Amino acid sequence: MQSKTPSESITTMTDMVLPSETNSLNNLFGGELLARMDRAASIAAGRHSKCITVTASVNHVAFNIAVPLGSVVTVEAKVSRAFTTSMEVYIDVWMENVDGSRLKANEAIYTFVAVDDAGKPTKVPAIHPETELEKERFAGALRRKQLSLVLAGKMKPDDATELKALFVG
Ligand SMILES: CC(C)(COP(=O)(O)OP(=O)(O)OC[C@H]1O[C@@H](n2cnc3c(N)ncnc32)[C@H](O)[C@@H]1OP(=O)(O)O)[C@@H](O)C(=O)NCCC(=O)NCCS
Repeated sequence: MQSKTPSESITTMTDMVLPSETNSLNNLFGGELLARMDRAASIAAGRHSKCITVTASVNHVAFNIAVPLGSVVTVEAKVSRAFTTSMEVYIDVWMENVDGSRLKANEAIYTFVAVDDAGKPTKVPAIHPETELEKERFAGALRRKQLSLVLAGKMKPDDATELKALFVG
């Protein structure tokens, strides 16, 4: 299987915040943003793997800035690392002002698994990061995968060597 670059999976979705998508403070409801990020990330994972993909876990979400009603929101998703059947997808969320300037509002990291028609995990191409940011995200992906597996009870903390190296000398 030939390796690919993160930019081959890039998925950009732009949409407005409508009244039905806000909380009582008139800001974008968190669950609505999670759904938008899940859709963009799912498309990115599909572009990388050329397979059906399912969300396996949401590893990290930071709601740093509230997104007001009427905002133009762009969700940008890219595969940051591919393992055997799973892919880490990094999502950046931007708010766009009327003058066209952009402000980074949120970010998230999701894990997707490529599956066959029977829902069984299937292999995905490796990924070759190109930019400095892509290389940085690629390098951190294994410890994030290990943390996610430990929290899900699917890996023993002792086996999470890459994760442990963060804390031990
Ligand atoms: C995700 C799913 C396919 C994994 O199936 P599984 O039988 O656990 O398969 P495996 O144990 O072989 O794991 C497959 C891959 O997912 C990874 N994975 C599984 N759970 C994970 C988690 N919580 N965090 C990170 N990676 C995870 C494994 O490490 C493995 O990766 P690798 O092959 O790249 O090394 C299965 O649990 C599933 O179908 N879940 C429902 C998905 C769904 O419906 N999502 C929508 C949300 S409602």
